[in-house]
Amino acid sequence: MNSTLKKSQTILITGANKGIGFAIVEALLERFPETHILFGCRNKNRSAAAIDRLKSKIPSSTGRMDEIILDVSKQNSIQNAASQIETLLTQRGLRLYGIVNNAGIMYSPTGVEEVIRVNTLGPKYVLDYFCHLLEPDIGRVVNITSAAGPNYLSRCSARTRKILTNQEVSWKQIEELTKEFIQQYQDSNDSERELLNSNVYGFSKACANALTMQQARSYTTVKINACTPGFIETDMTVPIAQNQGRSPRDMGMKTPAQGTASCIHLLMNDVNTGHYFGSDCVRSPIDKYRAPGAPAFNG
Ligand SMILES: NC(=O)c1ccc[n+]([C@@H]2O[C@H](COP(=O)([O-])OP(=O)(O)OC[C@H]3O[C@@H](n4cnc5c(N)ncnc54)[C@H](OP(=O)(O)O)[C@@H]3O)[C@@H](O)[C@H]2O)c1
Repeated sequence: MNSTLKKSQTILITGANKGIGFAIVEALLERFPETHILFGCRNKNRSAAAIDRLKSKIPSSTGRMDEIILDVSKQNSIQNAASQIETLLTQRGLRLYGIVNNAGIMYSPTGVEEVIRVNTLGPKYVLDYFCHLLEPDIGRVVNITSAAGPNYLSRCSARTRKILTNQEVSWKQIEELTKEFIQQYQDSNDSERELLNSNVYGFSKACANALTMQQARSYTTVKINACTPGFIETDMTVPIAQNQGRSPRDMGMKTPAQGTASCIHLLMNDVNTGHYFGSDCVRSPIDKYRAPGAPAFNG
């Protein structure tokens, strides 16, 4: 690890109140004493409860967390959080070391638009509003995507795959695809909607992987990568096991703590920029599932 990284590592984690986000905060506080956490959560009560849990679990976390109320589906919330953080950083004479875009949803009862808003537009606008706060040369951004992205691209239309795997992809192209997906949903009948609802998570994460390549090209002074945490037992995935009458462990799910490895790797180790990593911290393709332990992708 570069010794300059050790000076101050203020890191924003979105969706930090539970699941993988909470485990990432816990791992950073326990293993990296120089870190200070900007604890992003969209709900004040859930945020306070989670921060209290961390304080009682990790005595050394006292004074190392600031609560940031942040709903990544709302641009005004992102903007307010960015000004709050700018004030905090200015008071301390610091820059932001890292951003972990962890907040995500698999499904929304309101339809596909909300899933795209959280999983794709969230990481886009968070970086747009926060980029000027990041420490040039050492700053990191980690977009927590999912293997559902490569899985989706391995079976979607050739046109979508071509756009979302193009290393020169623009935000306009990604945004147009999201608008088309939402329009298709609005024009569809009930059975088509069911299919689109089951595809939107993979689609939104494939878009977030493409966004990562685009962001890495646009913001060259920081390292921006995406990763999957693996198949992890959280409120997002437990219903999948319940629906099949199986236990999370039977389904091969790992613990939230095990799901932090790829994110911590991308935050703390020497890495390139603009790539997608598997849960084993190995570079992976964005259009085909690569199982942990399989050879690294070099394309
Ligand atoms: N679990 C897995 O197997 C798995 C696999 C691949 C990728 N992932 C990804 O890992 C990330 C974390 O998922 P998880 O499994 O830990 O799920 P989780 O336990 O459901 O946690 C999701 C987190 O995101 C927050 N969130 C949702 N919508 C938000 C919004 N609009 N603004 C701010 N925060 C919001 C939630 O806050 P509330 O408590 O307020 O709802 C919660 O803190 C997601 O991006 C997910 O797609 C998970």
